[in-house]
Order: sequence, then structure tokens, then C-alpha cells
Amino acid sequence: MDVEKIRGDFPILRTGITYLDNAASSLTPEQVLEKMLEYYHGYRANVERGVHRLSQRASEEYEEAHRKVADFIGAESWRNIVFTRNTSESINLVAWGLPWRRGEKIVTTLLEHHSNYIVWLRAARRFGLEVEVVRPNREGLFNLSDFEQAIDDRTRLVAVTRVSNVLGVIVPVEGIAEIAHEHGSLLLVDGAQAVPHMETDVRKLGCDFLAFSGHKMLGPTGIGVLYIAPTVQEELEPLCIGGGTIRDVGLEDYELGESPERFEAGTPAIAEAIGLGAAVEYLEALGMREVEEHDRRISWAIREGLMELEKVEVYGPKDPEHGMSVVSFNVEGLNPHEVALALDAANIMVRSGHHCALPLVKHLLNRPQGTVRASTYIYNTLDEAEKLVETVREIVKGL
Ligand code: ALA
Repeated sequence: MDVEKIRGDFPILRTGITYLDNAASSLTPEQVLEKMLEYYHGYRANVERGVHRLSQRASEEYEEAHRKVADFIGAESWRNIVFTRNTSESINLVAWGLPWRRGEKIVTTLLEHHSNYIVWLRAARRFGLEVEVVRPNREGLFNLSDFEQAIDDRTRLVAVTRVSNVLGVIVPVEGIAEIAHEHGSLLLVDGAQAVPHMETDVRKLGCDFLAFSGHKMLGPTGIGVLYIAPTVQEELEPLCIGGGTIRDVGLEDYELGESPERFEAGTPAIAEAIGLGAAVEYLEALGMREVEEHDRRISWAIREGLMELEKVEVYGPKDPEHGMSVVSFNVEGLNPHEVALALDAANIMVRSGHHCALPLVKHLLNRPQGTVRASTYIYNTLDEAEKLVETVREIVKGL
């Protein structure tokens, strides 16, 4: 991967920043912005609602974006790809759309982002369900036998992340899928931190739902994805219905259309969807194996550098096989936000705090104040990794 060439596609990097907050949001390359501008300049119109040529072109590009995303994650068809606003909305769609029966169980884990946690707590209250939480060890590693214990014939859904947004640990989703399916349970994977960084094949993963966001994978904000396996598409009620979702409407009844139209009520985020399609093309041209290898190399350099520093505690897996792209740490005696501000003063952007994963930082790490988190992507360099480590060294010296 030619990182210098890649960096040239991101004008914001010319300002001299070291951007290490990619788990919150990646940067956006010119190619994606140009594709969105092409829509506004050339064929700005609504989709699936007009016979005129601008609407026809917009509809084709909008459908093509579904197709590109479908190919990118190995989905059966573009009809299995539903555009939402973000991962959170995708997961909420499943929580409100499944025809739950009282007494059913949802199994999730202590690694989850709030979007894959409180959504289930609320569904449990609303529909009379039970939530069981599987705990990993302190590094974030699971024992599959704990899933064997937790998943039973009452389990309707298992909801797990593929990569933790705090620890960067990779969850053995394929093994969990087997256990879930043995019990007739569905599997939802939160792919927000995985899809941007590693090869994804929904059929190899064995998931029924995969949720992820465009803004963490070079796309614009405001566009997310829910993959819905063909076997569960009819079972799921849309979160919203209205314009564009129907096949027919009578005075007292209506018939919903096919997926994805039935799930995408109202005028969608058209430019954003087209932009996401361009982001997927950009990543495919690099190759997701190369992206993963690069991310692992840079994040591991950060991790190893920080581990050598006194008064710095680093979290997450100790073996590079088990994690990537995210490094969480704390400096003894300093709040994570103080460290992040000191790094900002050195032009380094990181996230600090609980990372929308309070159960994890409170009950697994026992660090209720959270962590400092550096997260990498395709444009980060070993020099930037070193700059981060050296700046933290200076912060520690100043204590
Ligand atoms: N979910 C994003 C993060 O982890 C926003 O920062």
C-alpha cells in the first residue's frame, strides 16, 4: 500500500494533523467528495419517484451503491442491503422489527458499544425479554464455552461486535454463529469497527444481520448499513413506513414492497449513499487484506511503544493476532481527557472517555473514567505512531 499516495487524497492531512481518532470517524478522500458533488452538479433529483432522466440516473446510482456494498460484504444480492443513518439505527431497526415473544432471550457481551447494549435492555423491558451478558477476560478474549452456557433454545438473538471499539479485540464471531444457529437463534453482528478494517463475508461469518456505518470507512456521515439475510427479510417489520415503502395502498390497508424499499421510508440520504459506494470502491482498490495488515502494523507499533513507558497502562489483547486498529491506555494520575488535550496541543487527535461503552470501562477494566484511545487507518504512518508515543513520554515526564 502506497501510504504517501493515499495521504495525497486527504487534503485535511496537509494541515499537519496526526489523525488517530478513526474509530470515531475516518477522514474522507477527494474521490468520495467528487462523487457526491457529481450528483449535486449533474443529476440532483429524488430516487425511485420520477420518470425523467435526472431521477432515472439518481435511482441507478443509488441502487448501484447498494450493489457495491453488497459485493463488498459478500451479500447474496443488493436487496439484502438496507441503507440507514448509522450502525445505531441499523441495530434499533432489528430490535423494533423482530416479532418477539415474551420470555425470549437475547445474549450479548460486556464488550459492546451502547448501541449494541442499551437497545437490548430497552427491547427486554418493552417486550418482556431477558438479556444475558457474556464476559470476556480483561484482555477482551472470550471462551466459547461461555456462549455455549448462555445460548439456549429460548435465545432468539445473539448480538455481538466483531471488533471492540475500546480494546480493538477481534471476537470469534464464526464460532458464536455456530452455537447460535444450533439453538435456532439469530445472530446480529455489530460491524462498525470491523467492516472498515478487515475483509468481511457475511456468509462466512454466518450472521443474519450485519450493522455498520459509512463514516468510519471513508464515507460521509449520515449513511449506515443493515445487511439482512434473505431468510429473515420477511420476518422483520420496518422501523418507519411511508413514502417509497409500499407496493399498494387501499383505503384501509397497505402492502409493503420489497427490500430495501420497504425499510427505507421517505427520501433517503442519496448523495451520502452514492458517496459510500465510492468509499467502498476506494477500499476495494487498496485490498482489505492490505488495509488490515497496515492497520495492525501501525496500531501494534503504538501499543508496543506505549507498553514500554512507565506510568502508562495499556489495555486489550497482548497478541497481535487477536486485535487491531485500536489502542486504549491511561496515564497514571491523569484523567483521559487531560491526556487527550495535551495530545491535541501537539496536533494529535485521539478520543478519550468512556467511548460509549460504559459497561466495559466500568465492569471489565475497572476504569470508570474511561481511557485514552488511539485508532488507526490507511493514511497513518509509523512516524505518526512514534510521534504519539514520544508525546505521551513527554506528558509522563511532566508529571
Ligand atoms: N462509536 C464511535 C466511537 O467508538 C463513535 O468512537
